[in-house]
Amino acid sequence: MRPELQVEKKTDMIIDTHAHYDSEDFDQDREILIESFPGKGIEKVLNAGASAASAWKGLEMAERWPQMYCALGVHPNELEGLSEEVLKEFAEKSVHPKVAAIGEIGLEYHYEEPPRDVQKTWFRRQIALAKEVGLPIIVHSRDAVKDTLDVIREEHAEEAGGVIHCFSAGPEVAEIYVRMGFYIGVGGVVTFKNGRKLKEVVQAVPMDRILLETDAPYLAPVPHRGHRNSSLFLPLVAEAVAELRGISRQEVIDITRENALRCFPKLAD
Ligand code: NI
Repeated sequence: MRPELQVEKKTDMIIDTHAHYDSEDFDQDREILIESFPGKGIEKVLNAGASAASAWKGLEMAERWPQMYCALGVHPNELEGLSEEVLKEFAEKSVHPKVAAIGEIGLEYHYEEPPRDVQKTWFRRQIALAKEVGLPIIVHSRDAVKDTLDVIREEHAEEAGGVIHCFSAGPEVAEIYVRMGFYIGVGGVVTFKNGRKLKEVVQAVPMDRILLETDAPYLAPVPHRGHRNSSLFLPLVAEAVAELRGISRQEVIDITRENALRCFPKLAD
């Protein structure tokens, strides 16, 4: 073949809408890994805040690397460090071009602590913050389907919009969120043998409402299940979604990329 006919390999341009690269699991190779993304088809990554400290680390990474963006927020299991003062600092930083969302926020009833009413109070407060600063939310909901939906409805969280991350409820609940304008976060679980419910959700919701996410370092897709996850494994999730929808992997990547930019407008800049 003449050299001028050789087409440059098309990059995948995947957006990972949920990862935790501030995690100590990446302390050994964070720089190498993040700097490898552009050459490996990972275009952009949205780092979600877990604790307040982790949210600030996410902002540092976003300031350092063009491919990194961050969400500021505190996970229901990390509420000890949260205060009105912290929320005020989040509000001040929300205008930063690399701060794309408020999250992850929500309800985690898998564990007894912190008490449910405390979780709900801070979930409501952080939804209010997102509406106030005009950013979408990243919602964490585990074993708390009804309460999450109740809080979201009562607080009119649809005015902020965003994603129900690591979606774990059934297709009926997914359709309620989609009708409210939310996106459905799909990650490694869709490749698991026991991920039947999520597979049904992926087949039921409109393709323009699905976001790809890793939740790295957690929930690595098959065949890496049980090992450290990273955005480099996201093509495996795209592949599983493609199979369930009967379209190509590249179509899944292209459509979910558009979805990510619509859900999180700051990722487009
Ligand atoms: Ni997460």
